[in-house]
Amino acid sequence: MDIEFDVKHGLEGVAVAISSISYVDGEKGELVYRGFKIEDLIENSTFEETSYLIWFGSLPNENELDFITTMLAKKRELPEEIVKMMNSFPKTSHPMEVLRSVVSLLGMFEKKDKSTFENAINLTAKIPTIIAYWYRIKNNLPLIHPRESLKHSENFLYMMFGSVPEHSSLFDKALILHAEQGMNASTFASTVTASTLSDIYSIITTAIGTLKGPLHGGANEKVLDMLEEIGNLENVEFYINDLINRKEKIMGFGHRIYKTYDPRAKILKNWIKDIFINKKIKYFEIALKVEEIVLNKFKEKKIYPNVDFYSGILYNYFGIPKDFFTPIFAMARIVGWTAHAMEYCKNNRIFRPKAIYNGPKNLKYKDVKGAE
Ligand SMILES: CC(C)(COP(=O)(O)OP(=O)(O)OC[C@H]1O[C@@H](n2cnc3c(N)ncnc32)[C@H](O)[C@@H]1OP(=O)(O)O)[C@@H](O)C(=O)NCCC(=O)NCCS
Repeated sequence: MDIEFDVKHGLEGVAVAISSISYVDGEKGELVYRGFKIEDLIENSTFEETSYLIWFGSLPNENELDFITTMLAKKRELPEEIVKMMNSFPKTSHPMEVLRSVVSLLGMFEKKDKSTFENAINLTAKIPTIIAYWYRIKNNLPLIHPRESLKHSENFLYMMFGSVPEHSSLFDKALILHAEQGMNASTFASTVTASTLSDIYSIITTAIGTLKGPLHGGANEKVLDMLEEIGNLENVEFYINDLINRKEKIMGFGHRIYKTYDPRAKILKNWIKDIFINKKIKYFEIALKVEEIVLNKFKEKKIYPNVDFYSGILYNYFGIPKDFFTPIFAMARIVGWTAHAMEYCKNNRIFRPKAIYNGPKNLKYKDVKGAE
């Protein structure tokens, strides 16, 4: 009997939820959170304000902003037992492995009676601390404890380096850019976990594990690997052509939805170009040349830079090591993950797709000696 195959490979084009959280127009290169264009939010809002918008669906008034800012600031510290355990982790652990594991561990230490929203705030507040503490532990540096008086983004940079650097508002804006992006792989994976009515720590552990892959959030680290390997402008052409000839993916390019310039990549590129006009920003010239060659080669395939192409250059400017780039993505995207989990569960149905079986059905069992 012929099996009729109707498989949507990679679920391309399949809608799995109705959502009012964000809208992506992949042809026009537009990204909207809760009705507001990303360019508008970048210009006028902060990470705290945008998080409130994504979670609650409207911009906060003064009291609401104060509420969210205070909640995020008060929940930053980690349980002592967790810090002790982090000190025993192998120093070679990748920060994404640490983040994934510590979020999972936190589930055993935190009170279980909080609402999903309280849990979302609590984890959003703690993720920067996990990342910064790991940076300090890995580098044998004393921990810098969170300061409630600082904004979410400023406090992260302070816990990493001991001070809030110039242009820290750009880092805040970069978090806004990464906070939400519809039903991408990690959001889908975490929504599946949420649909089983599992707990928030399992939901976010799933999301982090999914984001880690180089085809998803892990691409930002791989982009810097590539730019480092290229090393100088003269090598770009040979290096990229070689990748293309070997049919390898060029990290930081291509997107399932954007078939034009990713608006987030455009914003990041313009910041680097405009704000740092008088300074030589490491790898920027090489990146521009890579972009020129890739755009030229892949005109027909509509492959453009995505958000991960330029973000690493900005983080590198702040002195953040490349293996910490994807955790920073997670630090922002937790807002989208939790918003989708809460939205989906209001009208929950467990995810249970199917696979079309194409294996044999009538094999006769034989034991290890071959007897029937
Ligand atoms: C993001 C990504 C996974 C989207 O995948 P997708 O929607 O499944 O697209 P496909 O992998 O089917 O790509 C379609 C075509 O474009 C090519 N392509 C896509 N991205 C490419 C890239 N970065 N470099 C070279 N070719 C690429 C594919 O080889 C394929 O070519 P083909 O039709 O000749 O086989 C993919 O573009 C990619 O792997 N990019 C690099 C990793 C990255 O930057 N990820 C971060 C995403 S925000």
